Amino acid sequence: MCGIVGYIGGQSAYPIIINGLKRLEYRGYDSAGIALYNGKSTSVYKKYGKVSDLENSVAGLDTNGCLGIGHTRWATHGEPNDKNAHPHMSMHGKFVIVHNGIIENYNNLKKRLTTRGYTFKSETDSEVLADLIEYIYELSPISPDDAVQLALRKVQGAYGIVVMCTDHPDRLIAARKSSPLVIGIGDKEYFIGSDASPFVEYTDQVVYLDNDQIAVISREGLNIKSINNAVVTPEIKKVDIDFDEIEKGGFSHFMLKEIYEQPRSITDTMRGRVLSEVDKITLGGLIDVMPRLMNARRIIIVGCGTSWHAGLMGEYLFEEYARIPVEVEYASEFRYRNPIINQEDVVIAISQSGETADTLAAIQLAKKCGACVLGICNVVGSSIARETDAGVYTHAGVEIGVASTKAFTAQVSVLAMMALMIGRAKYNIKSADYHQLIRELMSIPEKIEHILKSADHIKEIAEKYKDSSNALYLGRGCYYPVALEGALKLKEISYIHAEGYPAAEMKHGPIALIDDKMPVIVIATKDKGYEKIVNNIQEVKARKGIVIAVITEGDTTIAAMADHVIEVPAVENAVGAMITVVPLQLLSYYIAIMRGCNVDQPRNLAKSVTVE
Ligand code: M6R
Repeated sequence: MCGIVGYIGGQSAYPIIINGLKRLEYRGYDSAGIALYNGKSTSVYKKYGKVSDLENSVAGLDTNGCLGIGHTRWATHGEPNDKNAHPHMSMHGKFVIVHNGIIENYNNLKKRLTTRGYTFKSETDSEVLADLIEYIYELSPISPDDAVQLALRKVQGAYGIVVMCTDHPDRLIAARKSSPLVIGIGDKEYFIGSDASPFVEYTDQVVYLDNDQIAVISREGLNIKSINNAVVTPEIKKVDIDFDEIEKGGFSHFMLKEIYEQPRSITDTMRGRVLSEVDKITLGGLIDVMPRLMNARRIIIVGCGTSWHAGLMGEYLFEEYARIPVEVEYASEFRYRNPIINQEDVVIAISQSGETADTLAAIQLAKKCGACVLGICNVVGSSIARETDAGVYTHAGVEIGVASTKAFTAQVSVLAMMALMIGRAKYNIKSADYHQLIRELMSIPEKIEHILKSADHIKEIAEKYKDSSNALYLGRGCYYPVALEGALKLKEISYIHAEGYPAAEMKHGPIALIDDKMPVIVIATKDKGYEKIVNNIQEVKARKGIVIAVITEGDTTIAAMADHVIEVPAVENAVGAMITVVPLQLLSYYIAIMRGCNVDQPRNLAKSVTVE
């Protein structure tokens, strides 16, 4: 949540920061701001709305300078408006700060600063931090870096900050605790970002700042120390982001591009891991922990939102093939109970961004209890990827649309590979079945390619139901998480209320909602529960409900009952079930577009939820 960009070097900072903020807008987009030092003075420009609104508002103003910081906000403290937008300047104008995270004890700090004469222009916790740094700096002759360090020792909560000091406009000071910051290293120039996307065209050399570290960055170099003053040697890594991945590439929205990328992203996720010629699945990242996985008493999967839905698919896959009991937990609930975890448990954290605060906290709790903690992340080098004992990357590529699409199918692909690999190693799967399951896995990209050809048909269905106020999604077994995911996609981008239910549960309550207006989307492919789901469809039709069914190609039985059908290629087992989510992604996308919604940046949401 919130995107941060900083630049210091020989180039004009403004275009670098503005373009960087546009790339980070997926992290928050209720207001934006920039601070620039032009060689004589520091200007701060802030605006309610998108980065483009900020850009328009500074047209004609002084945007010179080779040092600056920028921010795109997802509001936590204080409503989205010009004054709460970042950067925040301290009361005496000595410090300017951009902040991602929450200062939990800000009220206390604010009261104490108030008794010392401080007044505040905004309602944010971030301005309090700027003032605290300034207050400490003015107490005694210390460097701005030391003032930041001392102030952070008094802070509880999460932060990724970049600070400019107007007395020392030769440096940027960056620090992090639980909110990501990456420093890009160029030739006598440095970039800072919440991730590396703002500066990929300038450098691929990066340093990931760790928790409780402070970096002092000048044109001459980068110095990192811990908050407790230990010197840290920066570890330079190469970041691998393809520039094309962060552009729309001819699609009208990132979400649509990402839906269409799925055949490729799943292929990339399986490349080198599923060796069909020799019927083998190898996940390099798990080799060292295989004994723990095979002997796991229980697997606990934690995640949020779409990643939690992938976890539910994982439960089905692990129990079916690896025969290990699985519990799937919302990370946010797991961390606040007193869960019973022990050393024979394996905890798998699933996260696209690898930065979700609740998932990160759940990992820390599981580690404390001695469990083996694995990560399934999309963002290389992310906090969750680094905190876990081992893991597997989903090579889905950068996902920018706030609604997760290709990350979900990549996560399920990884879970399927894991379940099959463990199942085979435990001799739960016979050789012939294993061969067949691997074939099924390998056929997914092609099947999705085929489904994408139905886009026009799905668009026609969307046109009919774009004005609905409610929708119900039903599925059984491994299609229940697909129903949940379909409902989440619809509500988050079109603002239509939608619920996902196990189809058989319908008669225990939701059936009361059925009328001749609300579409009921049923995932009804020919699979284990087929006969049962046919009955559920009949129950809906008997009450004059509208059924949109996702069916197996050539299924004339359901086609004769349903109001609309979307055909998908046959799926022979749970491994390929994820393909049925693709028509639901498209349906949500088209409905949202027809309702005039901003699908890539839906209201109130942010891509990476780095606050609790
Ligand atoms: O980055 P993560 O996978 O940890 O994010 C978890 C959720 O915030 C995320 O899946 C969210 O629900 C998406 N907007 C769903 O489309």
